[in-house]
Amino acid sequence: MSVTVRPTVITGNWKMYKTISEAVSFIEGLIPFASKTHAEVGLAVPFTILPSAAKAAQNSLIKVGAQNLNAEKEGAFTGEISGRMLTDAGASFVIVGHSERRRLFHETDAMINKKLKGALHAGLRTIVCIGETLEEHQQGKVQTVLQKQIEQSFEGITEEQLKNVILAYEPVWAIGTNQTATPEIAQKAHRFCREVMARKWGEIPAEKVVIQYGGSVKADNAASLLEQADVDGLLVGGASLSLDSFSKIIRL
Ligand code: PGA
Repeated sequence: MSVTVRPTVITGNWKMYKTISEAVSFIEGLIPFASKTHAEVGLAVPFTILPSAAKAAQNSLIKVGAQNLNAEKEGAFTGEISGRMLTDAGASFVIVGHSERRRLFHETDAMINKKLKGALHAGLRTIVCIGETLEEHQQGKVQTVLQKQIEQSFEGITEEQLKNVILAYEPVWAIGTNQTATPEIAQKAHRFCREVMARKWGEIPAEKVVIQYGGSVKADNAASLLEQADVDGLLVGGASLSLDSFSKIIRL
């Protein structure tokens, strides 16, 4: 079997937090830590912050991205933001399919699939989030849910496009709850996701996909998660809002 060395990608998801000035001072503080870690560091910021955050991060290793986009290139869609607008504002990546968007904004796998295609078309590296709810977890439906989410949200995505995609396994019951998945649970789910991808695109392309874990990642549990063979990175919500905790996580 070939041994694939995948990069470690640690991304902060700021959700609907921070103003421009708060973001800029955070990034200035993070730059020295980002230059010392072997991990690729990204921050998914609110739309309004993108240009200033991209400017603050421009001579550093920190990547700036967005948390959502509209799948269309342009059009009469009041209040929406396209992939092209995101790259224009300085984003190099975007998150799609976060469970908060699925749950609160009724996004389906079909919609996420369109967003993924729109994002890749605009040249954005795309983090696709999947994960089961507590109920599905308790009913033993984890693999069924993950398989369906991968199959439907990646419909029509080519092996070439897959190179610009990161998968994030975020069990819904672990997000913002302080109930982190154990490293064993995360590893088992990540391995399963890789097998599903291998069936779709072949073993070698699947081995190259970075799979992040997300859900109550903190400085004190990040290392044990990253030690797992198929946990290649972290998607960090709450703990990415404080420079102290996020800098500790990226130093691991
Ligand atoms: P959390 O959020 O780290 O606060 O649990 C993770 C996420 O929503 O991506």
